[in-house]
Amino acid sequence: MERTLLVIKPDGVRRGLVGEVISRIERKGIKIRALKMLLMTRQQAEEFYSVHRGKPFFEELVAFASSGPVVAMVLEGDSVISVVRTLIGPTDGRKAPPGTIRGDFSLSILENIVHASDSPEAFEKEVRVLFSPHEIL
Ligand code: CMP
Repeated sequence: MERTLLVIKPDGVRRGLVGEVISRIERKGIKIRALKMLLMTRQQAEEFYSVHRGKPFFEELVAFASSGPVVAMVLEGDSVISVVRTLIGPTDGRKAPPGTIRGDFSLSILENIVHASDSPEAFEKEVRVLFSPHEIL
């Protein structure tokens, strides 16, 4: 069984889409192993998105990610990294197909409702930024 990290970003929480996102995950048959709401500090957001440091949108991304509460989840299932990436759709909400979370709810490349790990290495790094080991079942 594989694990991944899914984060409902501040825009998703502000727009009241927490239940909608969790419902899609559960209906797919993916297990939730940890779940919490938190406000990312600027430092946590910089660490979480450190692969994007130096890109033109980095500052805007860090400010956005720490602009309000997020809901972070550790998910488990067969091939869950690629399955969840398919469920959320491509980064740009304007291009994401209908039926995906971003395709159904976002019109923006920055404010795109959710984040999900894109590899086992990314998961290991991201989960350490947001969870302590005892919080994961
Ligand atoms: P996410 O999947 O969380 O990974 C990195 C995030 O950076 C991405 O979703 C977007 O929120 C943001 N992002 C990526 N590309 C751009 C861009 N060109 N302009 C603004 N934000 C971006």
